[in-house]
Amino acid sequence: MNPINNTNLHIEKASTSKIDAVDFDNLNFGKTFTDHMFMCDFENGAWQQPKIVPYQPMSIEPSARVFHYGQAVFEGMKAYKDDDDRVFLFRPDENQKRINTSAARLAIPEFPENYFFEGLTELLKLDSAWIQKGKGNSLYIRPFVIAIEPAIAASPSEAYRFMIICSPAKAYYTGTVKVLIAEQFSRSANGGVGYAKAAGNYAAQFYPTSLAMKKGLQQIIWTDADTHEYLEEAGTMNIFFRIGDKLVTAPNNDRILDGVTRKSILQLAEDMGITTEVRRISVAEIKTASEKGELKEIFGTGTAAVISPVSSFEHGEKTFTLPELDKNSYSSRLKERMLNIQHNTGDDPHSWRYEVK
Ligand code: COI
Repeated sequence: MNPINNTNLHIEKASTSKIDAVDFDNLNFGKTFTDHMFMCDFENGAWQQPKIVPYQPMSIEPSARVFHYGQAVFEGMKAYKDDDDRVFLFRPDENQKRINTSAARLAIPEFPENYFFEGLTELLKLDSAWIQKGKGNSLYIRPFVIAIEPAIAASPSEAYRFMIICSPAKAYYTGTVKVLIAEQFSRSANGGVGYAKAAGNYAAQFYPTSLAMKKGLQQIIWTDADTHEYLEEAGTMNIFFRIGDKLVTAPNNDRILDGVTRKSILQLAEDMGITTEVRRISVAEIKTASEKGELKEIFGTGTAAVISPVSSFEHGEKTFTLPELDKNSYSSRLKERMLNIQHNTGDDPHSWRYEVK
């Protein structure tokens, strides 16, 4: 994170905090928000004065382009608190760069790096009481940009709003996840927006995922749109396969989100002496490996999901069950290593931790 240049950030503090009404032991992911939010509008070809204001509803015209064409991108990050009340972010530069990569694909102007970091830092300082200590607790941070120009011609907006809102979080998935391997629907196509964190990428998954949920499954592992033969990502997570003692994940391409947790897990696995392979991986390969007892683990990685083990997958009406995991599983060991870095309870050899102060 670069040193902050003064951006003339205007801060209006909330007169009272909502925090006393929050039951931090019973949080539903993404339903409780902190006392403040950051916002900055783009008008007349430039980003205007950034502001932090009390979290509140806002008024946007019904004709705003975001409502009609989904011109919107977002990020997911987390803040953690250690036992000494120090607050940390994990690889925040990656999210700052990625929101601009996503924005470029959706014809949204880039948001300046110094605005992003000053806004985020001041917001976290104001709402730091909302970051609970202890592994498993975090503050989920949602930066996003929406097209707010009141105009319904199908062309890029001339006005945008960049915002950051924050929500105290525990695990996104509780327990293991059962997944369906996609054979009919697709998440993204060649040359499309799959690599961007475009809002519409997520909306497009809701219907197919709701069909999977009716069958008792929680997520879909998406396959390539052309053949449905190669495994790509799980929509809210990138996906890893342990075959024998090798850890395999699909290579990034224009259909797959360049996950910050994904690349961190690949690095940590290598640090731990685990052989990793980044290559195409076919549905046939994991079905055969499962039948031979060689498929030992599947797990998803993501900011919200952290590391979520998959207990079974369904393909062609057949269910393949993964072995029970113990504390020596790759997912447990990698998760432990990752949480120790994030919560400042372990070494950080790659300098991924960033203290907010
Ligand atoms: C994240 O992990 O931050 C994501 O963006 C997943 C989200 C849709 C909950």
